Amino acid sequence: MAECTAPEPLQRTASSVPALLRRRVSQTPDRPAYRFPEGGGWRTITWAQAGQRVDAIAAGLLTLGLEREQRVGILCATRVDWILCDLGILCAGGATTTVYPSSTPEETSFILGDSDSRICFVEDHQQLDKLRAEKHRLPALHKVILIDGITDAGADGDWVITLDELEALGRLHLSTSPDAVTRVIDTIKGSELATLIYTSGTTGTPKGVELLHECWAYEADAMMSLRLYVIDDVEYLWLPLSHSFGKVLMAGQIANGHLVAVDGRIPKLIDNLAIVRPTMMAAAPRIFEKVHAKVVQGAKEGGGLKWKIFQWAVAVGRRASKARQEGRDLGPVLRAELAVAERLVFAKLQARFGGRLRFFISGSAPLSREIAEFFHACDILILEGYGLTETSAASFVNRLSRFRFGSVGFPLPGTEVRIAPEDGEILIKSPGVMRGYHNLPEQTAEVLHDGWLRTGDIGEVDARGFLRITDRKKDLIKTSGGKYVAPQHIEGKLKASCPFLSQAIVHGDRRNYCTALLTVDEEAIAKWAADHGQGGKSYADLAASPEVRALLQGYVDQVNATLARYETIKKFAVLPQDLSIEAGELTPSLKVKRKAVEKKYAATLDGMYDGVQT
Ligand SMILES: Nc1ncnc2c1ncn2[C@@H]1O[C@H](COP(=O)(O)OP(=O)(O)OP(=O)(O)O)[C@@H](O)[C@H]1O
Ligand SMILES: [Mg+2]
Repeated sequence: MAECTAPEPLQRTASSVPALLRRRVSQTPDRPAYRFPEGGGWRTITWAQAGQRVDAIAAGLLTLGLEREQRVGILCATRVDWILCDLGILCAGGATTTVYPSSTPEETSFILGDSDSRICFVEDHQQLDKLRAEKHRLPALHKVILIDGITDAGADGDWVITLDELEALGRLHLSTSPDAVTRVIDTIKGSELATLIYTSGTTGTPKGVELLHECWAYEADAMMSLRLYVIDDVEYLWLPLSHSFGKVLMAGQIANGHLVAVDGRIPKLIDNLAIVRPTMMAAAPRIFEKVHAKVVQGAKEGGGLKWKIFQWAVAVGRRASKARQEGRDLGPVLRAELAVAERLVFAKLQARFGGRLRFFISGSAPLSREIAEFFHACDILILEGYGLTETSAASFVNRLSRFRFGSVGFPLPGTEVRIAPEDGEILIKSPGVMRGYHNLPEQTAEVLHDGWLRTGDIGEVDARGFLRITDRKKDLIKTSGGKYVAPQHIEGKLKASCPFLSQAIVHGDRRNYCTALLTVDEEAIAKWAADHGQGGKSYADLAASPEVRALLQGYVDQVNATLARYETIKKFAVLPQDLSIEAGELTPSLKVKRKAVEKKYAATLDGMYDGVQT
């Protein structure tokens, strides 16, 4: 096995995010820090302004009696206030507990109760209602801070105050005790709890992961050592901050000091990109799959000539991409062809992202190699990374000048890696690894030994030292014929090849062949239906129609032709509705909860092994 190490050295500079923030504010007080929607437009605040608000929030929390490492919840969508409240909690010596805004009242109450949160920030009245409904189960929660809206003293007494009121309290405290927050920051130790963040819950109940100040400070330093960022970058941040991927981006941005535009509303994404014109953005693979499907389908529907030009341009782009990856010169002919392809096809795609993009980062789930290659052919670089909540998100990432599609790149500097010889499990040791699972000593002992974390993922290191993730260990399918199948790999191929698919779940453990549950993309299939005389049919009717089955069969056959015989999808079922977070089939970070889906559609799956075609 080739060595799996970071190509660059690690430079340590900080021991906590509050210390990083203080340094950032003093080094570049007047540079823009955060841009966010306000009224009908966008507003930008500088690092000095952000620092002042964070201090006021921190001092307000101290006034409320917040003690070291005490948990404070945030129940809010991605927006600038999330960031400022999180930083306020950290600067007051508390520890942030993250709750997804899509969580039900019961899930919210589980997390706030499990974490023993004393205070909770809530975005608005809708989120506040969840806490009101669960108040009787949360005796430790003595204060709620409302970010948007006004309080209702009649209903809540002094249980709820507004964020403005908290900041006013904080400013008052600072007027008499100007060093109150500085004194806390100066004494924060790397070994203190900073964040209690819950895993996505893809494989079961979310587990509270204890991440220390040292974890985030290390991640920030390691990201800086990669030299991915430049100070003039404009980042677009929409990922849920309740997830570790969003959180680690926050730490990296403070270390580098570039501007980040923050808006978590996914329906606004396309419009916002044209306004913000980011130079970099991180996303989950689903976004790239969607854009890819839309672009390919749009070109196909453009008809004969448009489709031919598109295919030609992508083929040229692929040749150029290959040459660049191999470090070869393009030569005059390819360079000329590329210029035409760029003008006719790629420029339009790049314009969708605002036209200034340097690179994307993809993480949190596998990105199929086919999709990464397609984007690179269009001169858009997606750097895939890999990590777990348990490792403070980023453990591996491809580099700007050293990347390999289908791989997650090299470890961050300071991250040690081993591949378990018996089963290929990836083991990670780094300052970013969690202290343990909150209140779960047995589960902690199962995964942590001598500082090494068992990731539960299987991987392979190639001859050049790039790591490829095969699958989750528990998701590997062993067919009754004794062959191992990695479902993620086949699912990625299906989604990359068929622009009508939204999800694919490959099944086959202890069965004698593989099958798949498929869902179609509502928008794409409705358009296809309208163009093929099936307009006006409901989603469920289309999913059940022989025409859609025949359409999908063509793509499944194409993918089957690239697979080993024992991996091929012998039968598939089209589900009557798409998977959703609400139905408990997707995590809030948009991952498929395989077990939940297989359970719900158990009869459909069984039917595919009875000789019955569903
Ligand atoms: N680039 C990637 N390729 C493949 N898998 C990835 C990648 N990035 C992350 N993952 C998967 O995501 C997992 C980490 O995700 P996260 O910590 O959000 O919770 P989860 O493992 O999905 O949920 P839970 O632990 O609650 O079941 C990794 O263990 C890995 O399986
Ligand atoms: Mg996990």
